[in-house]
Amino acid sequence: MCGITAAIGADDAVSTLLTGLQNLEYRGYDSAGVAVADGAGVEVLKREGKVDELVDLLSRSSMAGRVGLGHTRWSTHGPPTNANAHPHTDCYGELAVVHNGIIENHGELRERLSEMGHTFSSDTDTEVVPHLVETYVTEGESVEGAFRRAVEDLAGSYAIAMVHEDEEAVYAARQGSPLVFGVGDDSYYLASDVPAFLEFTDDVVYLEDSDVIRVTPEGYDITDADGTPVERSVETVDWTSEDVEKGSFDHYMRKEIDEQPTAIAQAVRGRADGERVAFESLSADAFADARRIHFVACGTSYHAALYGAQLLRDRGVPARAYLASEYAVTAPPTEDGTVLVGVTQSGETADTLAALRRGASEGLRTLAVTNVVGSTAARECDDTVLIRAGPEIGVAATKTFSSQVATLGLLAERIAREVGGSGSAPSGLPAALDDVPDGVETILADSSASALATRYDDSDAYFFIGRGTGHPVALEGALKLKEISYEHAEGFPAGELKHGPLALVTPSTPVFAICTGQHTEKLVGSIEEVSARGAPVVAVAPRSEKEVAAVADDVLWVPETHPELVGVLANVQLQLLSYHTATLLDRPVDKPRNLAKSVTVE
Ligand code: F6R
Repeated sequence: MCGITAAIGADDAVSTLLTGLQNLEYRGYDSAGVAVADGAGVEVLKREGKVDELVDLLSRSSMAGRVGLGHTRWSTHGPPTNANAHPHTDCYGELAVVHNGIIENHGELRERLSEMGHTFSSDTDTEVVPHLVETYVTEGESVEGAFRRAVEDLAGSYAIAMVHEDEEAVYAARQGSPLVFGVGDDSYYLASDVPAFLEFTDDVVYLEDSDVIRVTPEGYDITDADGTPVERSVETVDWTSEDVEKGSFDHYMRKEIDEQPTAIAQAVRGRADGERVAFESLSADAFADARRIHFVACGTSYHAALYGAQLLRDRGVPARAYLASEYAVTAPPTEDGTVLVGVTQSGETADTLAALRRGASEGLRTLAVTNVVGSTAARECDDTVLIRAGPEIGVAATKTFSSQVATLGLLAERIAREVGGSGSAPSGLPAALDDVPDGVETILADSSASALATRYDDSDAYFFIGRGTGHPVALEGALKLKEISYEHAEGFPAGELKHGPLALVTPSTPVFAICTGQHTEKLVGSIEEVSARGAPVVAVAPRSEKEVAAVADDVLWVPETHPELVGVLANVQLQLLSYHTATLLDRPVDKPRNLAKSVTVE
């Protein structure tokens, strides 16, 4: 949700910035812009639309420099126009600012600055920042002093970077929004996310809230809000630049669907030895005081959390998944022994962070299940478990869902053993996870999802039903389809159909029934109900589920696996269905309208 990037000391900062913006475009694609500073002036170019529009604009300009910053926007305040595109400048164009997050007190700051004679040229909350800096410089502050004072004035969440005409330097600060610093051999980078600069360096400093960094081609200083130097370690990330390239695929989403065998294998690697499960980052007694598990998550991660909660309940551990946005406003009463688990691939989702913070403030132990080392969730929670999916660029989450469920499956085993639920008996799940990558390979080689997408692509709506772990998969199938194809899709617990949604079912609404091999008889009943209303039924099922196949019109086959893991494989079939439907309808698969990958505002 908005990507910011900066390049300092690179021979050609502008092309480095464009690479960064292209790699960050999943965070927003309403408008884009860059600014360079050479110690004698600041130049800004920006444009409504995707980064390609900016590339076009830059190809007709002579903009160059060693130090600059860039931005790709997901609109919050003001529509996607040239005027609202970042970078924003002060009245005289002496400095330029990019920002990710929300400045909550921008209204009062704007009023104060307007009374002082400042004129604004955009509707954004960001624009108050350059005007504040301008004010303090006019009062006699140094550029750094003015930047610090401006940052102090802000309420809300932000990652901000600024260049000023007097210096070949970038100033940046963060509070509640991500900002990482890349350390190259003779150049430096700042960005909202590591993929922005992965092809230049894999050495990263994860900046913390209240840090202020000044970077020049010669070096950098990190200080706290009071200006006291702080030490931040440089860590080497194990993602590669190939991980963030599309390769021979038409879309990142398709590449990431294909990467699932590797992603799942990585999630499991070294963590299970027979039925014994151990996480490198968790102490042996991490759940010693746990009595129940509450999950908080959003969107696809919420569906993974629902899946994880079901696996825990199956093992006798009380567990429940909450939508993070609701938990943050109406949390359930606090009970001793509750461990709050935030499931968030980015580790930066504002709703999930707010829920985790609320739980922590009430004394709950917190655990982050995330894909991003050094993310805010990872840093703020008491414990972290990484899902190890590798970078995911497509806005629609695919491999991270599979990696989350695989990780939560192992975590469920681990927790059940410690909490002593009925699931202390071997379930066979850890060993079965080893075969899931092969199951995904089989689906990728042999799926009929493309043919089914063609058969049903002019339907009025699409419904997905399931029971048990099939229910979160039904919800996820519907979410994936609606977000990338813009078709109306809904997921329901199969048994709920007859309590209302059945009224929507017609011959023009295919129903996808996820059959996990558990509760099959009841699912067959639900299928018969929709068939009787003329709806075509597609079962997503293992071949052994002959009863379901017999009542369905079509089947998306799933290789045989542990019943608790059928949902992971069924979900891959549904990802392919969504992908093919979206491409048939000519949708921008990797950048669906109105969405951004990392939602850093509540
Ligand atoms: C949908 C999707 C979103 C995210 C949600 C939470 O494809 O990706 O629903 O799952 O915004 O994001 P994270 O997992 O980063 O907290």
